[in-house]
Amino acid sequence: MNHKALLLWIFLQAAAALFSSASGENAVLKDEDGGLDELSTDSTVFVGAIKYNMRRSLDLDQEGCYLQVGKKECIEECGFNVTAKTIFIIHGWAMSGMFESWMQKLVSAVMQRETEANVVVVDWISFAQQLYHDAVNHTNTVGQDIAAMLNWLQEEQQLPLKNVHLIGYSLGAHVAGYAGTYVKGTIGRITGLDPAGPMFEGVEEQRRLSPDDADFVDVLHTYTREALGVSIGIQQPIGDIDIYPNGGEVQPGCTLSDVLTVAGNFMDVMKCEHERSVHLFVDSLMNKDHMSFAFQCTGPDRFKKGICLSCRKNRCNNIGYNTRKMRKRRNSKMYLKTRADTPFGGYHYQMKMHVFNRKQADNADPTFHVKLYGAHTDTEKISVDVYEGTIGLNLTNTFLVFTEEDIGDLLKITLSWESESDSWNSVWKNLKKTFWAWNTKPPKPVLQVRRIRVKAGETQKKFTFCAQENEKTEISPGDSITYVKCRDGWEVKPRKRLPM
Ligand SMILES: *[C@@H]1O[C@H](CO)[C@@H](O)[C@H](O)[C@H]1NC(C)=O
Ligand SMILES: *[C@@H]1O[C@H](CO)[C@@H](O)[C@H](O)[C@H]1NC(C)=O
Ligand SMILES: *[C@@H]1O[C@H](CO)[C@@H](O)[C@H](O)[C@H]1NC(C)=O
Repeated sequence: MNHKALLLWIFLQAAAALFSSASGENAVLKDEDGGLDELSTDSTVFVGAIKYNMRRSLDLDQEGCYLQVGKKECIEECGFNVTAKTIFIIHGWAMSGMFESWMQKLVSAVMQRETEANVVVVDWISFAQQLYHDAVNHTNTVGQDIAAMLNWLQEEQQLPLKNVHLIGYSLGAHVAGYAGTYVKGTIGRITGLDPAGPMFEGVEEQRRLSPDDADFVDVLHTYTREALGVSIGIQQPIGDIDIYPNGGEVQPGCTLSDVLTVAGNFMDVMKCEHERSVHLFVDSLMNKDHMSFAFQCTGPDRFKKGICLSCRKNRCNNIGYNTRKMRKRRNSKMYLKTRADTPFGGYHYQMKMHVFNRKQADNADPTFHVKLYGAHTDTEKISVDVYEGTIGLNLTNTFLVFTEEDIGDLLKITLSWESESDSWNSVWKNLKKTFWAWNTKPPKPVLQVRRIRVKAGETQKKFTFCAQENEKTEISPGDSITYVKCRDGWEVKPRKRLPM
């Protein structure tokens, strides 16, 4: 084992230990025989080790009913409705040997949303409970087993595969991929919830979830940050649509300090971010009225800076359960920001402003903030984070503003230039010392912003904001300008550029 692999190994073992301690208290849908002693790597023992628990009630204590290939009586006993949707939920690696607490949340959210659907929990705990490498090795077998179950339902009941939706979390996403590969025909939809990264990143399509595994494959990526050369969730796009909430990077509410305040530790941070995919999906099932949108973009940095907020030509979509199928468009990467808790959806605004350098601002490196005033409420001051990192002078700058609350119709924007910023102070001092030590008054940099163009991501509405009548549009450190919606007679007439 090389150094990196060894570190990964330690990391995963530690994670496993902690995952199991963290999940025990809430385990539901317990493995029916409890014992897993008969584990063996001999494939002949696999028969019946994977269970299909059809849920019949939201009550946790209800055992449900088990579907078994070849046993027709089970289909009737379980009340399997062949004309309804069939949704399989597939868990991931489970060192604890128990279902984690998210399982019950997801099952009950699916059942509440799709009251007639056949909701089946695929229990492959006995294979998932092994060391990560071994659990990975079993994903193929488990996928084959699911395919056999679906083939039997097709033959026995003429189950239409197009009504089948597999939802797999972590390793379970790749299990779903194998099921899609082996089944006769094409499954309607597979959703991958933060599909596992280690041993799947960069491998060929046959050995992981891929767009060919179902008619529509949608993926949520929540933990794509790399540590020690691997990331827990797969980084590469592997579906028709790949959505990266918060860039697939730091999930709000999951930072070390957030988690530590509720007595967690580093491993809980990992779990929080990986599992966020499930909670976002649950949120999409429960909060149909407040859908979160994701926007297509080539990368997280461009998205964060507000470059991509368009819905033209199917460039935006709902996230989670509500994701709309699109014409085959592989590996379309989509992004959004979210809140830290449910409901996770917020509001995205793209803002554009042309910043003119009027005087002495070549080295000013301005730090702008905006505050939005809405019909319902106002935001705090939000720092302006432009694409290139610094405000471009004599250029149009684009930035993204995210609000957690629905502020209502945007009425006013205040733009301010923070003078107390370190960068400004240092430039100021530098200027003073180097060039203006002999002069009593160092010149003040002056910029001009005449208007701010705004596009609301969620509504796709566009507005232009202008300075109020008779108000100046020039700004120096410590100043602020308030902009209101441009109206007839209110719009500041563009002045001819002054020759310098
Ligand atoms: C089976 O599902 C279909 C479609 O959802 C529904 O119309 C029908 O009433 C269901 N049948 C039973 C017996 O629940
Ligand atoms: C995977 O399982 C097969 C047999 O099922 C075995 O031959 C192979 O060595 C295993 N691979 C790993 C990496 O454990
Ligand atoms: C911006 O334009 C002004 C004249 O309009 C000029 O003095 C200044 O050097 C320009 N600044 C940059 C960074 O291009």
